[in-house]
Amino acid sequence: MSEEKIITLAELKEHTKKDNLYLLIHGKVYSLAKFIDEHPGGDEVLLAETGKDATEAFEDVGHSDEAREILQSLYIGDFEKGAELPKPEKLKGAAGPAAAQAASSISYFLPLTALAVYFAWRFYSS
Ligand code: HEM
Repeated sequence: MSEEKIITLAELKEHTKKDNLYLLIHGKVYSLAKFIDEHPGGDEVLLAETGKDATEAFEDVGHSDEAREILQSLYIGDFEKGAELPKPEKLKGAAGPAAAQAASSISYFLPLTALAVYFAWRFYSS
C-alpha cells in the first residue's frame, strides 16, 4: 500500500499536457489526466498550475472535503525533497529587470549626448 514513488522536478515539468498532467500540492504529486474533464473549475486553471507548486491555487479556491477526497485518489507519489520550486508571488518583484533596463538606457544616453555636443560644437565653431 505504501509504495512511495518520488517524482522529480524534471518529471513534474514533463507532465503538463491535458492527457498527461501532474499537479504538485502540499509536497505531493497528483495525476489529473482522469479527472481534468470532470473538474468543476474547468481545465484551464489546472493547466495553468502545471510544472510549479499548485498548493496556493488549490487552497485559495477553498476546495471542499469532497474535493480533497478526490485529490487522495489521484495521488501518485511524493515530490523530491530539496527541490525548491519558486512560489509564483516571489517572481513578481520587478526590481531586477526594471533596474537593468534603466542602467542600459543610461549607457546609451551618455555617449549619444557626448556625440551631439561634439557635432554642435563643430557646427558652431566653423
Ligand atoms: C487535484 C486537484 C484538484 C481537485 C481534485 C479539484 C476538485 C474540485 C472540485 C470537486 C470542485 C467542486 C467544488 C468543491 O467541491 O470544492 C472544484 C472547484 C473548483 N476548482 Fe478545483 N480541484 C483541483 C485543483 C484545482 C486547482 C489547482 C485550481 C486552480 C485555481 C482549481 C480551481 C477550482 C475552481 C475555480 C473551482 C470552482 C468552480 C465553480 O464553483 O465555479 N482547482 N475543484
